[in-house]
Amino acid sequence: MYEQVSHTLLNDILNRIKPEISEQDLRHFYTRLGANFYGIHSLFQRLYGDRDDFADLAQQLVETMAQQYIKRPVKLRQLDLAREKDYNWFLSQQWIGMALYCKGFAGTLSGLQERLHYFQELGINLVHVMPVLRCPEGSSDGGYAVSDFHEINPELGTLEDVQLLAEEMQKRDILLVLDVVVNHTSNKHFWATRARAGEKKYQDYYYSFENRNIPDMFEQSMPEIFPETAPGNFTWDEEMGRWVMTVFNDFQWDLNYSNPTVFIEMLNIILFWANQGADILRLDAVAFLWKKIGSTCQNEREAHLLLQLLKDCCQVTAPGVVFIAEAIVAPVEMVKYFGEDAVIAKECEIAYNATFMALLWDAVATKNTRLLNQGIKSLPVKLERATWLNYVRCHDDIGLGFDDRDILLCDYEPVRHRKFLVNYFTGKHDGSHARGLPFGQNAKTGDTRISGSLASLVGLEYALETGDNKAIGDSIKLILLLHGMILSFGGIPLLYYGDEIGTLNSDTYRDDPNKKGDTRWVHRPSIDWDKAERRNMPGTVEYEIFSALKRMIAVRKEIDVFADFNNRDLIEVENPYLFVFGRYHLKKPNEQVLVVANFSNKPQHLNLEDLGSWWSQYRPLVDLYRGESPDIFKNSLVIPGFGFYWLCER
Ligand code: GLC
Repeated sequence: MYEQVSHTLLNDILNRIKPEISEQDLRHFYTRLGANFYGIHSLFQRLYGDRDDFADLAQQLVETMAQQYIKRPVKLRQLDLAREKDYNWFLSQQWIGMALYCKGFAGTLSGLQERLHYFQELGINLVHVMPVLRCPEGSSDGGYAVSDFHEINPELGTLEDVQLLAEEMQKRDILLVLDVVVNHTSNKHFWATRARAGEKKYQDYYYSFENRNIPDMFEQSMPEIFPETAPGNFTWDEEMGRWVMTVFNDFQWDLNYSNPTVFIEMLNIILFWANQGADILRLDAVAFLWKKIGSTCQNEREAHLLLQLLKDCCQVTAPGVVFIAEAIVAPVEMVKYFGEDAVIAKECEIAYNATFMALLWDAVATKNTRLLNQGIKSLPVKLERATWLNYVRCHDDIGLGFDDRDILLCDYEPVRHRKFLVNYFTGKHDGSHARGLPFGQNAKTGDTRISGSLASLVGLEYALETGDNKAIGDSIKLILLLHGMILSFGGIPLLYYGDEIGTLNSDTYRDDPNKKGDTRWVHRPSIDWDKAERRNMPGTVEYEIFSALKRMIAVRKEIDVFADFNNRDLIEVENPYLFVFGRYHLKKPNEQVLVVANFSNKPQHLNLEDLGSWWSQYRPLVDLYRGESPDIFKNSLVIPGFGFYWLCER
């Protein structure tokens, strides 16, 4: 949009721009800057417009973008142009992700490079390597307490190893996802060190207070994220003699984004990582970016403005790079991280579908799909050019963040229902074989979340220990059923490393004093590559899971309607054990897939009349995954216990 104020400012900036920038051929950069500048200016103005040094700050902002553009490798600039043309590239059904810790998966970055064939064997072509940056030993929160945003954790390798990994992945058409921990730094970051030494400039990078007056006000409305290990949201720093805001662990200092210098620093870091060859950047804990007394300090309007601004700026310098929002918040809040445009994502193109994940786990525990259906019905419609990251497990806990209204609509009482789920997954409920552990128990609110590996949560650990073959079979079926859902729902499926070979809980974290208080480590494994070898031995658990997932992934890639264009209809059916939805092609009406999943351990019937028009179009049917026709009995489709179908016309 043309607007005089922003246009004049842009002209002034370009007139004053440093010679080392103006001498370069920045054609594409300037085109994009011109196109985006109105938005950039408005957002920057709304956030920081009341400052006397606003014009200088705007100058710095543009120079930061330009300098990173100059450093952007030619190959990546070409990729930018290609992706600008093929702008829906990330919505394709071709992408299948896996999240992993470099150390647990392969030891080092070069080790990871040597294991790339493993991803290709399974069909994975998007790999989220969790933080690889320098962190203080012991107080690292698994890499999410960064002490240097440019330096690699020496245990894992060097920056060159990351670049080599990115290049090799690009050759193999595997996307690289890296984190940028935008909300906080480690208390050992040099900004924190300088703040501690009394430098006002760096104290302003964080929220710190000489007494408890303001912290106490904040505490009145802020929840606790890690109530057991890090109660409260402020930490006393003896050396600085001040209280510092530490929403997560006491060694993670929250950044102060009301300071524009912090914004520019973090933008620079984001663009730096885009330039190292990351295709996708996962922005960590984005719901927490803005703090306001009297609020929960989550999902604030300004947090969205900051993300919009980051997106606009990234589009100027590195438009081929997309963002993932890690915002594990209520469903209505979650969709806002795509931005508020009618069609195009203006904040993050991709967001974790934490609601679907938690609902799937509800269906596992209750063995019915009442809440799953209700929750999906209430899931707000997302933008067209935005997509979900659908997952079953990740490195974090499972939060039971469904909407209380949905729970009530299913005739459950919210507090009791959540308690049931926690008891179920920690194996306390009668008949439950789950081996999860409680996480984040909050004595004040009664909230509890759940840790545990997928295999242990679905009873495989119990089944193997007791040698119960039927239970082993059921656990495997559940693992496949859950993956069958994330692979067909719409969005990018994100597998979690180790789940593809049925990795169980690991207790070793208990021997590490820095980890033992955090049960999430029970499901952050070191891959046992001997166990992984068994994926090639028919009859083993590893083979059953790995080969089935491999097939599912291969089939998904072939099915156009599995691409995410908001082309899904939830189909409400009478049978409360079934989850049924249809996927359709926006342009080719004959291309449709009907997904039918049975969350009970007994065979179930689906009355074909329940399917309405979805049925008449679907005779005769074939299950794409098995290549067979499903059983039909007395005008009903029969679905085996813990079974699912991806049905399409033969
Ligand atoms: C994100 C990460 C989590 C970490 C937290 C604080 O939620 O996924 O592992 O503890 O941010 O950085």
